[in-house]
Amino acid sequence: MSLDLTPEQKATGKANFEQAAGDLARDGKSKTMVTGGAPSDPKNPDRRDVLKAGLAAGAVVPVSAAVYFGYSSWKGNKAVKTALIGCGDEGGVLMGDHNPEYNEIVAVCDIRPTNMDRIFKGDTGPRKGLNKVYGEATAKKIERCTSLADLLDKKSKLGLEAVIIATPLNTHDPITKACMDAGLHVLCEKLMARDVTRCKGMIKHAKDTGTLLAVGHQRHYSTLYAQALEMLENNILGDIKHIRALWHRNNSWRYSPSAFDKSKYAEEYGVPYYVDSWWKEIPKADAAALSPEKLKELAFGNPELYGFKDVAELVRWRCFDKTGGGLMAELGSHQLDASSIVLGHVKPLAVSGVGGKFFYGPGRNDRESDDGVFVTFEFPGPKHPKAGKGGTDTNDVVVVTFTSFNSNEFEGYGEWIMGSHGTMFLEKEADVYLWREKDKSKKGDTGGRDTRITVTSAGGGKPAMESTSTWGGGGGSAPIGKAAGASGWDSAVRGYRTEMEHFAYCVRKWQEMKQKVSYEKKDGKLVHGEIIPRCHGEVAMADAIMALTANMAMAKRERIVFEDGWFDADKADVPETKHGPKKA
Ligand SMILES: NC(=O)c1ccc[n+]([C@@H]2O[C@H](COP(=O)([O-])OP(=O)(O)OC[C@H]3O[C@@H](n4cnc5c(N)ncnc54)[C@H](O)[C@@H]3O)[C@@H](O)[C@H]2O)c1
Repeated sequence: MSLDLTPEQKATGKANFEQAAGDLARDGKSKTMVTGGAPSDPKNPDRRDVLKAGLAAGAVVPVSAAVYFGYSSWKGNKAVKTALIGCGDEGGVLMGDHNPEYNEIVAVCDIRPTNMDRIFKGDTGPRKGLNKVYGEATAKKIERCTSLADLLDKKSKLGLEAVIIATPLNTHDPITKACMDAGLHVLCEKLMARDVTRCKGMIKHAKDTGTLLAVGHQRHYSTLYAQALEMLENNILGDIKHIRALWHRNNSWRYSPSAFDKSKYAEEYGVPYYVDSWWKEIPKADAAALSPEKLKELAFGNPELYGFKDVAELVRWRCFDKTGGGLMAELGSHQLDASSIVLGHVKPLAVSGVGGKFFYGPGRNDRESDDGVFVTFEFPGPKHPKAGKGGTDTNDVVVVTFTSFNSNEFEGYGEWIMGSHGTMFLEKEADVYLWREKDKSKKGDTGGRDTRITVTSAGGGKPAMESTSTWGGGGGSAPIGKAAGASGWDSAVRGYRTEMEHFAYCVRKWQEMKQKVSYEKKDGKLVHGEIIPRCHGEVAMADAIMALTANMAMAKRERIVFEDGWFDADKADVPETKHGPKKA
């Protein structure tokens, strides 16, 4: 929910976005939508042309995610035999949304017995459970592995080709590398790694082993963000000078478990004081299976970096400096990723901010990570030298703020993109709205929250929003992949399903070519970019650099200027050397 919009204003904003998407398509300026009509190249019609042919002239429909992201030729391929490593909250979402025609789940791996159980049974919302996705009889055949070593031992028997990793942050790099050493392709959840040195290590390992490395910043595969980006590329919003990203939640309510709940949780680790998904109860079954000694054995030979001192640190990993990266890693990284996408995949210039344990405290929720953050990023605008477009204007800066607090959720989460001609609001990865600014140079012009718009480039100019008071309905279109009027969960809009489908497609393409994956570049671009996941190692590393450097800036109350070498995977330069915590 956004701060002060009425339902009518939201409806106007939504209709405006759909109108603008349709208008751009009719103007021949869209890759996300097609209009009815003849194929662009009658001798060589593609999938978009097949769509066109079935449409009345002037009608507009979204292309599918597979067409837009370039893997619509999948049909006829055998699903990639895939294992899920880490069956917790996110593993559950991914399993609920994966497409078995692309990724056949042949094994799951987890060290917590309760989550092994949950991945099959499912729970609320998108976590449907493998029993439901495959049917109980088939799901029974999925191998259950209780450690990575167990899974890799069974690799040949299972015919395993790829893994999806959804484990705590500090374990991403050792698990990724071990899987790559076994010849497996990897889709690892975000944040990429606990520090930038480790990100660089993962990128090098993918190159050395010739395997795919995809990282789960799902907005790269969201049809909603693709369409929003297309609108920004057409300059519909004018000059963007500010993006306001926020992710506000209220985890401040007292937790009062029933006697039944209490009977399931190991009270020696404390019963949570607040209802807070980061500081959860510790199930007795997990506590019994995972003594500190057992956890040490499972720490990939380096408990200092990759281990958990006890089961509570494993379950509440987001709250500790060794195992998690706090609000910036978990929430902010997604929204900074979105900001850098909509600003044309640029890298930030500098970051400063304030963060702290402003609300929680000892005995109640004794976390190490901040419970509130307010950070300011400076990004290059299109005329800035660092935007790479030949500009020289160092004043052309876009200010991106990110705030996240745990004690008020009135505004929820989303990204507000503020341009000189209009405002776009991407709400909860599910909906998008567009409003026009009133043009003060034109007498009687209208704009703002209640004004309907059309988009036109009549007269040969660039597409621009026009206010319309005579709009009579129709002419718009649903965002691509999304049913008209739908809100809430939508697979193509969320990006998880698409990200996994494209990952599978890339795996098969490289196998067809009988070649190890090559990350070779020419003129700064990947030679085989179409069969490398969109959020590959270098892209994901940039997100990690933003999130982790913001934490360093807040810890020291400094303004940190980003250095080019940090973003270069082949250089050893990393922000933690200069700005990280000094060892005691
Ligand atoms: N893309 C997104 O929007 C999104 C959303 C939420 C979480 N995530 C990411 O997904 C990852 C997992 O988060 P989560 O919320 O599911 O955490 P979680 O704690 O709910 O689940 C993690 C699971 O990994 C298991 N695990 C830990 N070490 C293991 C090992 N060595 N071998 C096998 N399993 C092991 C744990 O037992 C647990 O079941 C994190 O990196 C997180 O940042 C991404």
